[in-house]
Amino acid sequence: MKADSIIKELSGWKVAPNLKDYNEARASFSWDAVRRDLDGLPGGGLNIAHEAVDRHADGARRYHVALRWIDRAGAAHDYTYGRLRALTNRFANALRSLGIEPGDRVFVLSERIPELYVAALGTLKHRSVFCSLFSAYGPEPIRTRLALGRGKVLVTTERLYRRKVKQIRRTLPDLKHVIVVGNEGTTPGGSDTIDFHRLLSSVDEAFTIPPTDPEDAALLHFTSGTTGTPKGVVHVHAAVIGHYATGRLVLDLHPDDVFWCTADPGWVTGVSYGIIAPLVAGVTMIADQEEFNAERWYGLLQDQRVTVWYTAPTAIRLLMKYGERVAGRYDLSGLRLLTSVGEPLHAEAVWWSVKVFGHPIHDTWWQTETGSIMIANFAAMDVRSGSMGRPMPGVEAAVIHRKKGGQIKPVQEPEATGELALRAPWPSMFRAYLDDQARYQDCFVGDWYLTGDLVRRDRDGYFWFVGRADDVIKSAGHLIGPVEVEQVLMEHPAVAEVGVIGRPDEVAGAVVKAFVSLKPGYEVDEALRLDLRAHARKRLGPVVAPKEIAFQPVLPKTESGKIVRRLLQAQERGSTEANRSHLDEPNEAEEP
Ligand code: WT7
Repeated sequence: MKADSIIKELSGWKVAPNLKDYNEARASFSWDAVRRDLDGLPGGGLNIAHEAVDRHADGARRYHVALRWIDRAGAAHDYTYGRLRALTNRFANALRSLGIEPGDRVFVLSERIPELYVAALGTLKHRSVFCSLFSAYGPEPIRTRLALGRGKVLVTTERLYRRKVKQIRRTLPDLKHVIVVGNEGTTPGGSDTIDFHRLLSSVDEAFTIPPTDPEDAALLHFTSGTTGTPKGVVHVHAAVIGHYATGRLVLDLHPDDVFWCTADPGWVTGVSYGIIAPLVAGVTMIADQEEFNAERWYGLLQDQRVTVWYTAPTAIRLLMKYGERVAGRYDLSGLRLLTSVGEPLHAEAVWWSVKVFGHPIHDTWWQTETGSIMIANFAAMDVRSGSMGRPMPGVEAAVIHRKKGGQIKPVQEPEATGELALRAPWPSMFRAYLDDQARYQDCFVGDWYLTGDLVRRDRDGYFWFVGRADDVIKSAGHLIGPVEVEQVLMEHPAVAEVGVIGRPDEVAGAVVKAFVSLKPGYEVDEALRLDLRAHARKRLGPVVAPKEIAFQPVLPKTESGKIVRRLLQAQERGSTEANRSHLDEPNEAEEP
């Protein structure tokens, strides 16, 4: 691959970057020093919500806008740090009034509305564990995660409750309270739910965060692997050290920034960078209720004078499809830094960005397990288009090969492909897979955490993404486990066997495709295909359900009878190369 660089001049910056010299920053970096930059709680405690909200509300930034929420109609609603403190205090008191204990899990299933942010931060203040679920999930992924996480409280909206939760609630014995945000003009019904706003107004506005150990669990995120059920990834309050450091050094946040992370808090990026990092930095963050729309997004960047933007390659590719002319109608001169994460960002997208925005997009790499950005193209560093960049100061990254007997061997030669490994620990490293110590242990060999991603490192220390070592699917930046999809398809009476893979897609990166063999007595026809698709969409939601179903009498298997997804993948690559003309719709973010 061509290693084109976009040279960054240090002169002429509107704002001097926080990280000016990469090597110098690495040499002088220490996590302890970052921790000392934060406030902490009396007695050595550390609480994410104190750093994100109360610290600013107690000080000079009390009247600074923390959250600017853009409603569906496009109107902006401001929440200052002071107001956010009062609301999150109320939510923490509300949990206490319901008898919720620290460590209990509080789930949120909601579109992007202010109550989601209040619940997240109030939960952290109370020291219960926050877990958010993607609102476009169908009832099955919601049920699985609530059950695995033994959620005690669920905060949701009236519409989502009616459509997705009501039907599964009896199967969740641990779920004690459902707190519902009503649609405007209606009162959320039923004696088995609690009205969010009524509950908050019934409790006190003052709350003192109790002592919080930095190692206390704070966040639970579900992620998918090749096998088994989704994994509950546990993060602790100390993770805020990582959120803060990367917010400063990678996203280059300065006090007057207006920051917009487009990721939904149903995924890790939307929590680490759509809630925590910008607030800890004390900036104004934008949250948009609406889904992707090119004109709306350009309009938002322009009207809100967004200075730092964190988005995803799929969104960039959608904007590219709309063409440069559309972008030209907007004043995007406020933007200072563009960043992206979640899937490979191809060199063309970086160059397109230079043309349209006057700045390259800076790719960043991390995972649910790493909790914060590990590898990045830093603002002051030359951007190598197509590369993920270089490790964050304080993070040591290596390319390794796994050897027989579970050992690993570092690969020294530049340009050689191997698995990306990170030297453990760092503050935002996950501390457990929920109830699965063995699976957690398997991620580590000696001091090294193995990421499951294949990469190369060039002569200058820039990392390049090669692929995944496992079978998980990245569709529009969302990680989807094939097993979850296969299980739901297997429920259908016609299905004998099924294998699910990601089919390459120009916009979404990959889309979910299922290969199905039928039981005797069933015949391949369009009606059956539609029925299967409908079944999957109803149970899984539009993001996880397969976009395409292919019938195949025999699926490739190992001798022991396991379906080999890699062979389905290879088979698919063969046929897409033969016929590149048929492309399905990209990802549909919301349900119809
Ligand atoms: C996987 C992690 C990072 C938070 C959002 C997703 C892929 C991530 C990049 C990148 C190529 C990337 C990797 C990684 N990925 N960033 N810049 N270039 N691939 O977190 O859902 O846990 O997914 O996303 O395969 O392992 P996640």
